[in-house]
Amino acid sequence: MSDQPPQPKDGEPRDAITIEQARASDADIQQVHAILLREKSEPAESNRPIPIWLLLFVGAMTIFAITYIIRNSGGLEITFNKAALVYDERYTSAMDTGAGPAKPKVDPLVQGKKLFSTCATCHQGTGQGVPGVYPPLAKSEWVNGSEQRLIRVLLHGLTGELKVEGATYNGLMPNFGKGGGYNWSDENIAYVLTYIRQEWGNNAPAIDPATVTEIRTKGAAGRNKPWTQAELEAIN
Ligand code: HEC
Repeated sequence: MSDQPPQPKDGEPRDAITIEQARASDADIQQVHAILLREKSEPAESNRPIPIWLLLFVGAMTIFAITYIIRNSGGLEITFNKAALVYDERYTSAMDTGAGPAKPKVDPLVQGKKLFSTCATCHQGTGQGVPGVYPPLAKSEWVNGSEQRLIRVLLHGLTGELKVEGATYNGLMPNFGKGGGYNWSDENIAYVLTYIRQEWGNNAPAIDPATVTEIRTKGAAGRNKPWTQAELEAIN
């Protein structure tokens, strides 16, 4: 054994030297292994359970989180389709009035005037009608009289001989309730009637949509043909 370990030849990498060339004796190798054995412990094979304190901690955090979300959900679970469009931590369900966002206010006269354009093709924008063909709405006893009769005219239509302000008509007034191609809501019928009762010098009380609903669903439920003057006069 020479004192000098062999050197790599020119241009040869250092690790080209084999163990034999490095002249490591069995004793050398055993000594190195002994060091390695002493320094490193054998890897444990059993899988270690999650420490109990960690389980308790995670459990406690989960309960806290769920409670927090339920208590501070800004009423999302109660009113998500009404008011709670914006998350508000300070919101509690006790603050829910059940009102929801305010409905836009409708002015019956403004809405009624718009709707009246449909009627104006026959009764004219002036409410004067067309002599001999379409009766007038201005000063008409039907418009300013019984709301029970007037609502029925709109809901189901009107036909046959009809006297208005002393003149006789015989035409067909279409129905705006259902089946006549109009299908107006109770609100819209109330609005247009309120409009014609307060326009052109007319001065009769407004019509409540609830009254239209009442006649549509109870008073004249199931009616599917236009009224005649005689039928209407039998109703107060
Ligand atoms: C297609 C034409 C036409 C349209 C549209 C029409 N009407 Fe009439 N209306 C008539 C005719 C015709 C009569 C008379 C029916 C008869 O002779 O029996 C009448 C009668 C009436 C009467 C009772 C008579 C009177 O002059 O007071 C009222 C009230 C009335 N219409 C309101 C309306 C309202 C409100 C609208 C719109 C929502 C409307 N009408 C839309 C043709 C129409």
